[in-house]
Amino acid sequence: MTEPPLGLLAELTHRCPLHCPYCANPLDLVRRENELDTPTWRHILDQARDLGVLQVHLSGGEPLARPDLPEILGHAHHLGCYTNLVTSGLGLTPHRLADLIDRGLDHVQLSIQDADPATATRIAGTKAVEHKRRAADLITTAGLPLTINVVLHRANLDHLPAIIDLAEQLGADRLELANTQYYGWALRNRAALLPTPAQLAAAAPVVAAAQARSRMDIVYVLADYHQATPKPCMHGWAARQLTVTPNGDVLPCPAATALTDLPVENATHTPLAQIWYQSRSFTAYRGTDWMRDPCRSCPRNTIDHGGCRCQAFQLTGDATNTDPVCTLSPHHHLIQTILTEEITPQRPEFVMRQVTT
Ligand code: SF4
Ligand code: FES
Repeated sequence: MTEPPLGLLAELTHRCPLHCPYCANPLDLVRRENELDTPTWRHILDQARDLGVLQVHLSGGEPLARPDLPEILGHAHHLGCYTNLVTSGLGLTPHRLADLIDRGLDHVQLSIQDADPATATRIAGTKAVEHKRRAADLITTAGLPLTINVVLHRANLDHLPAIIDLAEQLGADRLELANTQYYGWALRNRAALLPTPAQLAAAAPVVAAAQARSRMDIVYVLADYHQATPKPCMHGWAARQLTVTPNGDVLPCPAATALTDLPVENATHTPLAQIWYQSRSFTAYRGTDWMRDPCRSCPRNTIDHGGCRCQAFQLTGDATNTDPVCTLSPHHHLIQTILTEEITPQRPEFVMRQVTT
């Protein structure tokens, strides 16, 4: 039986003040004139709550770029949902934060790029360090729980101890140290982002020590190209969460536009419940029936769900294939070739994220 979704990732806009090379949003961004309006977002939230959604992650791009963010967030709160603002911190003023808290904001996830200000500025493509410090101060002073999210890659992994210290100084309750996943724009920058095996070997004990001593809850997302078994991506396809993009496309995973053969439904045409339970895009890889060997007969298939469908498609052209990260995959050599050919002594320059306005 298909369970209802727990969470909704509401990508309110693709507009963003940063230019991060690891951005997982698609190459083609939704332009401002094609963004959903406020009543449509309210209607989507109504449907999501009816469907069972309890957590709403307001994301982007930068959700603070939407003047109607307070109204959308307030509506999610009014429906009884836990609300999480996923932000760069740019645009978060005392007044705006107070308004969001009044409307029911429960939690903030703030991104930082590095502990070293010069590298952080280079990765963000803009001066954001002081904005982020001020944003963290506002959030913690208001008593809101704060998660700091750091995307890790070759250019910042060596600074991991300082990054952990910075998150502690900023008053984070939770720290997500997430090695880069190669979707959307990040795939373009894979050779510049892939860490070296030596960097990952050095990072593991640093993370373990911090997890043992820190008052923060520290989550470490592994660099999956370097693993022997794949990540249990999305806890399985269309299992717990749905994503609505700025123009209303409804996706089983935020990167699902990578599957260029997948028909995509839009919330302005089709009810959310119908999309969740019946659409081809959501049912295609749900559960285990779609699997072929080696996953079909593998005891791990309910643990890692065969890995990531988007990665399987990107690397093999067929989403029913085992994620090539798995050493049992007949395509595993593709990962080994990428690691051998793309991790070069001289790291290539980043191609900075082109943003829409
Ligand atoms: Fe996971 Fe499939 Fe590999 Fe088994 S064969 S470990 S289910 S990806
Ligand atoms: Fe889409 Fe893994 S990123 S299923």
